[in-house]
Amino acid sequence: MQLDQIKRNRMYGDLAHLWPLVSAPEGYAEEARYWREILREKLGPGRHHILELGVGGGNNLSHLTRDFQATAVDLSEGMLAHSKRLNPDVEHLVGDMRTIRLGRTCKAVLIHDAISYMLTEDDLHATFATAAAHLEPGGIFITAPDWYRETFQSPWVHYKTWVKDGIELTLIEYAYDPDPGDTTMKTVFFFMIREHGKLRIEEDLHRTGLFPMQTWVDLVTEAGFSVEKRPYPVHDDPRQAYLLVGTRTAAQT
Ligand SMILES: C[S@@+](CC[C@H](N)C(=O)[O-])C[C@H]1O[C@@H](n2cnc3c(N)ncnc32)[C@H](O)[C@@H]1O
Repeated sequence: MQLDQIKRNRMYGDLAHLWPLVSAPEGYAEEARYWREILREKLGPGRHHILELGVGGGNNLSHLTRDFQATAVDLSEGMLAHSKRLNPDVEHLVGDMRTIRLGRTCKAVLIHDAISYMLTEDDLHATFATAAAHLEPGGIFITAPDWYRETFQSPWVHYKTWVKDGIELTLIEYAYDPDPGDTTMKTVFFFMIREHGKLRIEEDLHRTGLFPMQTWVDLVTEAGFSVEKRPYPVHDDPRQAYLLVGTRTAAQT
């Protein structure tokens, strides 16, 4: 099979029903601790209103809703349905992180790993403008790119098996950088699904952004934030990971 024959982003479309099998809220407890600590440190006490863009299945958010009131946005209705089940008190809206405008502000805008779907500097510019548009000065923007150009070693391979509700699912991920000259990488997902003794294989292709650390810092700064890089040692592999934490400084231009 050729790469261009594999359909894209099926995990958030026709394969979205597999999400709760491959990704459980418990797996996000450690990551969410970093987010909660930064929000508390920056915003102080209180049940502040936060906005998550690209909430996906709402796993990371599910660890924050006890402390914060939340609104959640995603492109995928299938993924929002999972988050709604997990986070019934959260307002959920369909929207694109690059363009959505709610016409109101909150205390923090969060973009977890969904930021990886921004492929160009224009995408990042538009997304950071969305964050700025929903924050007053002093508001906080936190994001967590999966990889930086400096930290990604091509290829990266990961696999895991889950058994639940009579289904055995093995997911193999193969991430690589076909063109080190551009700002993207690709990940091929193979889902090996054994149900009622029969094996079915589904493929899925994801294209994600791969930018140097300095590009992130420069573009977040240009959007009107002062930026900090916080160490984020949450991955199974020894990659150097950082949360980017922006504090809104200036009125949006
Ligand atoms: C890996 S999932 C996020 C999982 C999430 N961090 C969690 O804790 O469950 C990535 C999500 O990004 C969403 N996404 C991709 N591009 C987007 C965009 N332009 N605007 C909003 N959501 C987007 C996808 O629909 C998908 O639900």
